Amino acid sequence: MIVTGGAGFIGSHLCESLLAKGHNVIVVDDLSTGSISNIKPLFSNPNFKFIEGSVRNPSLMNDVISDCRCVYHLAAAVGVNLIIEKPVHTIETNIGGTEVVLAAANRFGKKVLITSTSEVYGKNEKIPFNEDDDTIFGSTKFSRWSYACSKAIDEFLALAYHRQYALPVVIVRLFNTIGIRQTGSYGMVVPRFIGWAVKNEPIMIYGSGKQSRSFTYISDVIGAMTALMELDSANGEVFNIGSNEQITIEDLADKIIEKTNSKSEKKYIPYSVAYGQGFDDMQKRLPSLEKIGKAIGYKPQVSLDKALKIIIDNAK
Ligand SMILES: NC(=O)c1ccc[n+]([C@@H]2O[C@H](COP(=O)([O-])OP(=O)(O)OC[C@H]3O[C@@H](n4cnc5c(N)ncnc54)[C@H](O)[C@@H]3O)[C@@H](O)[C@H]2O)c1
Repeated sequence: MIVTGGAGFIGSHLCESLLAKGHNVIVVDDLSTGSISNIKPLFSNPNFKFIEGSVRNPSLMNDVISDCRCVYHLAAAVGVNLIIEKPVHTIETNIGGTEVVLAAANRFGKKVLITSTSEVYGKNEKIPFNEDDDTIFGSTKFSRWSYACSKAIDEFLALAYHRQYALPVVIVRLFNTIGIRQTGSYGMVVPRFIGWAVKNEPIMIYGSGKQSRSFTYISDVIGAMTALMELDSANGEVFNIGSNEQITIEDLADKIIEKTNSKSEKKYIPYSVAYGQGFDDMQKRLPSLEKIGKAIGYKPQVSLDKALKIIIDNAK
């Protein structure tokens, strides 16, 4: 099996899980946001191979995909900071990489799982989000939307391959996923808050802090992804993977301060200061888990409290 982006946060956990089930795993990763340290323990496994390279390289992707069972496509430019600072890189990586992966998979008839995001629902205010709900994006003047749009194009392209060539594809829309090895460097909220809290530094809350999110622990996400890869009836379908436990960002900060016995104080930063003028954020983002529940019996097993405990214990 190929895992693109396998040296990243989610990819490294996915590799661990696939290897534990006895699969052969080849990672293609350019190490732009991922790191060798995430996958170092896997190098001693004879079923594991790492290739440093880009998913935008068609001959590399043809080579590896010709000889595999299926492809988990995770490689992407991820994280709000990266998207704002490197908008060209984000669009080209996310759309260009997926184009190459799908073309190669189609050449050899290999199933592809595309990791999309809850961001594709954009500014839609519906609660909860069903997979067929509308995508509502903001102005193209604001780079923030380029990530969501690039992932939406990935979805369109994967579904087009399915419709036009009967390529087996499945799309997962991940809501905020958390776990050990997630880095705060590119704007992910939980590792950033924990990083500040353990050092007793101020916790920066962007906006009012009243915006709510739901966080899913990595093991629940990996279990769902691997089950959908093995399910033929999932082909050509889109699934939310998330949790329906909601929390405001302000309450998340308080929880983390309490759990780390931190002396950190909360500091509120306007979006315009954090990300420049015109930054939009969603007040709520909650998945409907009905479709994935019916398909694979998915129900998140790890509560936010338990997830935070694991991550905090690991950060000490
Ligand atoms: N973490 C989340 O909460 C979340 C939420 C929604 C969607 N996702 C999606 O899940 C996937 C994995 O995200 P993650 O959180 O593990 O991020 P990550 O940054 O840890 O992983 C992405 C990996 O892709 C690699 N990569 C980037 N460009 C590449 C290229 N051109 N060629 C090869 N490798 C490349 C990076 O080096 C990194 O290892 C992404 O597609 C992301 O959009 C994540």
